[in-house]
Amino acid sequence: MPAGFRLVCSGCGRTHAPDTLAWRCECGSPLDVEKPLPAEPRFEGRGVWRYRPLLPLLDDRSVVTLGEGSTPTVERDLYGVEALLKLEYLNPTGSFKDRGATVMVSNLKAAGAREIAIDSSGNAGCAVAAYASAAGIRCRVYVPAGAPRAKKMQIALYGAELVEVPGPRSEVGRKLLAELKPGVAYASHMWNPYFIEGLKTIAYEVAERFGAPDAAVLPVGSGGLLLGVHRGFAEAARLGFAERVPRIVAVQAAGYTPVYDALYGPYGAEPPAEPLADGIAIPNPPRLKQVVEAVRESGGGAVVVEDREIAEALKLLARAGLLVEPTSAAAVAGLRKAVEQGLVERGERVLVPLTGSGLKALDKIAGAIGEAPRHLEGGANAAEVGAEAG
Ligand SMILES: Cc1ncc(COP(=O)(O)O)c(C=O)c1O
Ligand SMILES: [Zn+2]
Repeated sequence: MPAGFRLVCSGCGRTHAPDTLAWRCECGSPLDVEKPLPAEPRFEGRGVWRYRPLLPLLDDRSVVTLGEGSTPTVERDLYGVEALLKLEYLNPTGSFKDRGATVMVSNLKAAGAREIAIDSSGNAGCAVAAYASAAGIRCRVYVPAGAPRAKKMQIALYGAELVEVPGPRSEVGRKLLAELKPGVAYASHMWNPYFIEGLKTIAYEVAERFGAPDAAVLPVGSGGLLLGVHRGFAEAARLGFAERVPRIVAVQAAGYTPVYDALYGPYGAEPPAEPLADGIAIPNPPRLKQVVEAVRESGGGAVVVEDREIAEALKLLARAGLLVEPTSAAAVAGLRKAVEQGLVERGERVLVPLTGSGLKALDKIAGAIGEAPRHLEGGANAAEVGAEAG
């Protein structure tokens, strides 16, 4: 294996070439990177690529970086817990997805991709659009028509072709695949194994600075964040710079609860017409089985939060100077619930990544917490507040 790693099917175990542009195995399952851990890896520099020895990379000359990673961590007492709030929203495109995008796009570039397509609720589309443009790769991004306007603008401004798809989130992926032309790689953050590898670096950064927290409370949509953080801590533990793998608590929004349902049985809420936490409104994540396994293996669990609780967390964070998007506030609402339900204990140290920037969803946030500044109401954005907050 000249690349120093393999791509292995999570379903049938079959090996695939590391430079494949296929997005899944012939058997229909997602692929994973298998890379032997170096005995004593040396970390140099900053950001995601500080962890180069632990990341899969087809060609050192193809790294596409925008300075992602090395995000600050703010320590706060929340609900009696010592919360490590990692400001992932300070990444270059405003979300943690940049960590996945840098590793995925670098490998796509090395594999010779000229044109890619992705479907996304917004943030992954922003990240992949930016990194593709930086790499000189043409990019088409399919989003739900109801995605926040700022995210759609951002995608278009990076130079990607934006395709807005009416209807449910599942329709977005269906349309992409129906329109996928030969020679265009489907670079899905939900399926692509390199994307998840980049997300491991969140755990490495926390482990290097703080050691292993007792738990990590993570918003789950496709589950890439959860799988990346779990794998990152597992590797850090094997390499000796984390004492253990933290218990992982998956946070889902009412109406979109596949992880909760798999663990405990149906939660039983209907999907809302306009999900407040748009980034985690994913009914059937392709890596669900892996996500559930990771949660179980860690000794963690899952909680479900309602829009009302997300709005409360949004306000609490904003008033603490931390302006995040609703999907991101769901993690803090989830922390509260995890404490109430005994999944996290008072006094424990808990990683809570703040995954996405509030600047992408100002109107939606104002609508959710019911506090748009008076003199801004009725302006050009008023219609949008109504449309997005539903
Ligand atoms: C801000 C934000 N947080 C969390 C998530 C969930 O991440 P994942 O899809 O990796 O589970 C997303 C996904 O889009 C997101 O945009
Ligand atoms: Zn397979």
